[in-house]
Amino acid sequence: MTTATPVSPTEAVLHEALTGLTSAPQKTLPPWLFYDQFGSQLFEQITALPEYYLTRTERALLTAHADNILLEFVSPLTIAELGAGTAAKTGILLHAATRFQTEVLYQPIDVSPSALDEAAANLTAAIPGVLVLPQVANYVTDPYTLERPEGQRILALYIGSSIGNFSPAEATSILLRLRSHLGPGDALLLGTDLAPGPQKSVATLLSAYNDAAGITAAFNKNILARLNRDLGADFNLDAFAHRARWNADHSRIEMHLESLIPQTVHIPTDHQLQRIQFAQGETIHTENSYKFTEHALDALLASANFTPIRTFHDPDRSFAVTLARTL
Ligand code: AVI
Repeated sequence: MTTATPVSPTEAVLHEALTGLTSAPQKTLPPWLFYDQFGSQLFEQITALPEYYLTRTERALLTAHADNILLEFVSPLTIAELGAGTAAKTGILLHAATRFQTEVLYQPIDVSPSALDEAAANLTAAIPGVLVLPQVANYVTDPYTLERPEGQRILALYIGSSIGNFSPAEATSILLRLRSHLGPGDALLLGTDLAPGPQKSVATLLSAYNDAAGITAAFNKNILARLNRDLGADFNLDAFAHRARWNADHSRIEMHLESLIPQTVHIPTDHQLQRIQFAQGETIHTENSYKFTEHALDALLASANFTPIRTFHDPDRSFAVTLARTL
């Protein structure tokens, strides 16, 4: 997990690039570097790909079970969301909530002010009765707060399989931090992608991260394009290939960029031109996407003082939306 240092955005990118590409035998770049303007657009395209079942499966689960989720609460509630983005799927729950209470306070937290503006404009226009209280914050590193209108419970959403991009220890610390804002009777709704099983093959997982149209490859390579744009580096994108691998030991999909030839890449810094050498076949590890067994999910929730109330799956057991209460 990257810790925040008070530096300019370009300095932060340079710091990550130099650290990740020079300090350990396995070169790495952190996944937050994917999400500049181009990468965010590519990610939007990924969510609509036929191979990327995650987004549409979660949306279908929320649509089918919104009332069941909300009926677990006896009192009025406010809905908060970590990493809300444009809140594309959250409208389903907010719409359902306005059938149980006249006004619903929605508290989205995200690093992107423009995404939050879009979320607020869309939701208030589409769903009368929703009040939006946005907060610009990185929920991993920045402090954030959750409001509790009098007499209301908090339903905290952490959906979209976002938790899968963090190591188990990081995932626990994100949930523990969230848990510290919650009290008795509050709940978490967690969206997780599931590990392969009798109905879900490793091939299904691999194709979700290596689609036929090459959008995920472009998304992965955008991290190098970003270093060229932001830092003046000279990565040749054609000399790297997108790779998606299943790591069974860690139950995760790994994304890598493999150097197709022996090559040297240059990154300008204030003092010098930093040279980065690549052997043929050497990779930069860019992302982990953890896939959960039921046991791993229960253990994660328990590690952050939550206990599952109900889990909703699709028939193929590809994806889970779990409602958990505070312990
Ligand atoms: C944002 N996150 C949940 C996505 C995932 O599935 O891990 C990011 C992604 N990487 C490649 N495709 C999508």
